[in-house]
Amino acid sequence: MAGSSKTIEGAGPVTPFETAGRAYHINEHEYDVVIIGAGGAGLRAVVGCAEAGLKTACLTKVFPTRSHTVAAQGGIAASLGNMGPDHWRWHMYDTVKGSDWLGDQDAIEYLVREAPRAVIELEHWGTPFSRTEEGRIYQRPFGGMTTEFGEGPPAQRTCAAADRTGHAMLHTLYGQALRHGAEFFIEYFALDLIMDDEGACRGVTALCMEDGSIHRFRAHAVILATGGYNRVYFSCTSAHICTGDGNAMVMRAGLPVQDMEFVQFHPTGIYGAGMLITEGVRGEGGYLTNAFGERFMERYAPHAKDLASRDVVSRAMTIEIREGRGVGKNKDHIYLHLDHLGADVIAERLPGIAESAKIFAGVDVTREPIPVLPTAHYNMGGIPTNYHGEVINPKDGDPDAVAPGLFAAGEAACASVHGANRLGSNSLTDIVVFGRAAAQRAAATITPGAAHKPLAKDAGLEGLERLDALRFADGGTPVSQLRLAMQKAMQHYCSVFRTGESLNEGVEKIREVWKGLDDVRINDRSLIWNTDLVEALELSNLLMNAAATIHSAAERTESRGAHAREDYPERDDANWMKHTLAWADFEGRKTRLDYRPVHTFTLTDEAEYIEPKKRVY
Ligand code: FUM
Repeated sequence: MAGSSKTIEGAGPVTPFETAGRAYHINEHEYDVVIIGAGGAGLRAVVGCAEAGLKTACLTKVFPTRSHTVAAQGGIAASLGNMGPDHWRWHMYDTVKGSDWLGDQDAIEYLVREAPRAVIELEHWGTPFSRTEEGRIYQRPFGGMTTEFGEGPPAQRTCAAADRTGHAMLHTLYGQALRHGAEFFIEYFALDLIMDDEGACRGVTALCMEDGSIHRFRAHAVILATGGYNRVYFSCTSAHICTGDGNAMVMRAGLPVQDMEFVQFHPTGIYGAGMLITEGVRGEGGYLTNAFGERFMERYAPHAKDLASRDVVSRAMTIEIREGRGVGKNKDHIYLHLDHLGADVIAERLPGIAESAKIFAGVDVTREPIPVLPTAHYNMGGIPTNYHGEVINPKDGDPDAVAPGLFAAGEAACASVHGANRLGSNSLTDIVVFGRAAAQRAAATITPGAAHKPLAKDAGLEGLERLDALRFADGGTPVSQLRLAMQKAMQHYCSVFRTGESLNEGVEKIREVWKGLDDVRINDRSLIWNTDLVEALELSNLLMNAAATIHSAAERTESRGAHAREDYPERDDANWMKHTLAWADFEGRKTRLDYRPVHTFTLTDEAEYIEPKKRVY
């Protein structure tokens, strides 16, 4: 069959490639740095690389301002102290405690100390933050954010642009990225990393979805900012694009992902639709009730109540429902009240969720509560990195060894600042702090315009063989059927509460679904805007993430942060204060696990190591 992909005029040389008797044309490109993903982390990395004079390309499968950062609502955490006393040390304490002592304390120190500078930078670039009467950036309380090392009142630390903070940041960052002359390859789907024999990353291959052309980008550094993978779940707050593509590329390159068992369930997804209702609602004074109208969080977290950490609130809601105190006809959800805040406050600070609640739940929030349910929201796990964003590829005797030329930032990465549970609003901080850190490291180690080392002719083209095999897949199972089976299995076996028995069953179920890829059917054989093919590629990425997640969860016999084992209800620091590493064997459709130590040291002497203790709110 004539097979072939387009060549692009002016893109550089073209290399012919043949697989399964079909000819493809590979359009060759050379850059100093290639960034994959144009959400907040990707765009912040683009700005940093481009302004340092590096020839920078950004590949993104959606238009930049459609990246999932646009959906972030409540805000970005930084100890500016605009609305009351605050300090980075308190922010550090809260983040370490929120992580249930699985976070690396050197990286956490970096995050919280860089946070105020990152927010001021965004302000100077034009992000339209909400304001106080005095004209300062408005900051609201968020779950788990406290003062006085947990002893004082809630901290007002979360800087907000009403309830559309991610939207405001993303548009600002895209504007800045364009200023610096970075080149964007929009609607390009990244296929695979190009790794050399020494384990260094040398570039990436990609499919241009619009015209079906195939591309090979050589680069001295690749920065993965591909976001999370919550589309492994049936109900999630994440966009359809959140398919863990970067994590899967790393696993296919033979490197591990880390701490995948820690999946955050946001307490307030709209019942049925899964749409996010920001924690900012509770930050502004909203509260949860059960079928008896009881503010039940007072029983579970007497001090922080509705502003306890997310894992705590999600578990409390799940227990209320399980014990028959859920609301609605089927007693299977909870009410979130904000009507008492008043229409003016809602219009000024929470306009977006008022609209979402109307559209997706038919609720007028000035008069009625919103029906909500814990919903998969964020992946604490991902590609292991140090605080420079360099990807870790542990070697015997060196658990912190890095893969040269490879970086990751944002939700795709595991720095690890969130450990076993992320605090709300630390994610937007993470993306700009570590997007910038990765760019700074790339700029410090790459000479602009330096010559590229020679590459084997077919380097990185295994991804094309995979694409070709899927494109002509002729089995009996539609992609949508396999995807649904995966999502239902993850929802059922790997949810807010887990047991060894259900997790082990889930491991087998996911393996079965993964094997089902061998029988997948693609109906469209073209390469031009072939959504059937792209969804198959995404599904194959999702399945690797799902397998790593459920296997890692089955092996961790303790409860920590978002990983709540009913058969092992206590945290077990003696045996489990360590990061899980998972490698995927794509052909064998299985994963292999190992572990590396948590960093129990700080970055500087100005921060004190925070000793583990019982985590109560
Ligand atoms: O609730 C929210 O606004 C979500 C914020 C976050 O995940 O950081």
